Amino acid sequence: MLHFYTAGESHGQALLAFLSGLPAGVPIDIEFINRELHRRQLGYGRGGRQKIEKDRAEIFAGVRHGQTIGAPIALRIENRDWQNWEKILAVEAYPEDDSTAKKLVAPRPGHADLAGSQKFNFHDARYILERASARETAARVAAGALAKTLLRELGTEIASHTIQVGHTRIERAASWEEILAISNDMESPLRCVDAAAQEKMKGEVDAVLKAGDTVGGVFEIVAHSVPVGLGSHAQWDEKLDGRIAQAVMSIQAVKGVEIGAGIMAAGSLGSEVQDEISYDKSAKKFARSSNRAGGLEGGITNGEDLVVRGYLKPISTLRRALRTADMVTKEPVQAAYERSDWCVVPAGAVAGEAMVALVLADAFLQKFGGDSLTEMRRNFEGYARQIHDF
Ligand SMILES: Cc1cc2nc3c(=O)[nH]c(=O)nc-3n(C[C@H](O)[C@H](O)[C@H](O)COP(=O)(O)O)c2cc1C
Repeated sequence: MLHFYTAGESHGQALLAFLSGLPAGVPIDIEFINRELHRRQLGYGRGGRQKIEKDRAEIFAGVRHGQTIGAPIALRIENRDWQNWEKILAVEAYPEDDSTAKKLVAPRPGHADLAGSQKFNFHDARYILERASARETAARVAAGALAKTLLRELGTEIASHTIQVGHTRIERAASWEEILAISNDMESPLRCVDAAAQEKMKGEVDAVLKAGDTVGGVFEIVAHSVPVGLGSHAQWDEKLDGRIAQAVMSIQAVKGVEIGAGIMAAGSLGSEVQDEISYDKSAKKFARSSNRAGGLEGGITNGEDLVVRGYLKPISTLRRALRTADMVTKEPVQAAYERSDWCVVPAGAVAGEAMVALVLADAFLQKFGGDSLTEMRRNFEGYARQIHDF
């Protein structure tokens, strides 16, 4: 229902995002999109790039007088560093010398450099890394902000927080209110709800900076107030857990996705893992004793908060370079170093929120359809009555 794709290179002129399938009449606030872009740029452990870029989105199509018109939306985020890259990434053929080529022949282990160069037949990883770079997540975040706007209209809110950096993990559960507050806290260095754990996490980030290394971690995304019945058990590609896993796994450097207590559950007994069901007769509502399923059973939302975790590897551009082989001479060399981040967990979380929002908005559209928000809201409210009377 919702189609989205991005275009643009890391140091190119701009990033572009296209989103089609949003109904007409969704109110659009460009400052909300820009705020989301700003959140993506924050976080303890980011490189110099974030100081150059002050991301702002411009909308070129699909919105009129502050609301969607039911047509595809096109967005652009300018790269402020473009004047330094204009020759290096010129569209036109350019006489190649060392200063204009900025070739990269020493592929970084863990990046797309070598596999991409072999696949696309370039002896210069510049052709690959410019697109493989997580700068692309800015376009996802802008599109995700539009999806979040639709979800908000129907009562669903998404937030995230950091639960692990390196070896430091928070030991306690966080409430929705805490997660929402930290998620929107522009001053929090790592967006972790536990101040003591966050200090230790900062220590880990400082240590890798000093050592010329990098550090990974885990972010958690929570979607609050999600209706029962999004996604389906009926076909493998309709299962919402699978669709969310694919979306979050597609974020650069994410190497694992967990729903609810999924990883812990694998080493536990059935009686320790399932969430027991009860019925509150006065509220006329089913309830669960816990939410270890993370809001999804059989690929269908069950009305509890949706809880998704993304496991980020430590990023692969290291100041203390790793060993690699030159793509031209085939001789052993040190891997290339480009200005780089050394911890990206909070930024990865914002990209994760965007991807979850896009999948959820798609699932809402499948279930409640409608060409306008008014029509969609009518379908949604009719279904809410059906669930209430179940
Ligand atoms: C927000 C964010 C920022 C990133 N910044 C960098 C970076 O500065 N340097 C780097 O080498 N990798 C960075 N990465 C990770 C790479 O883009 C990623 O590892 C690479 O594209 C290879 O893809 P893969 O790790 O998913 O296999 C970042 C990832 C995210 C989510």
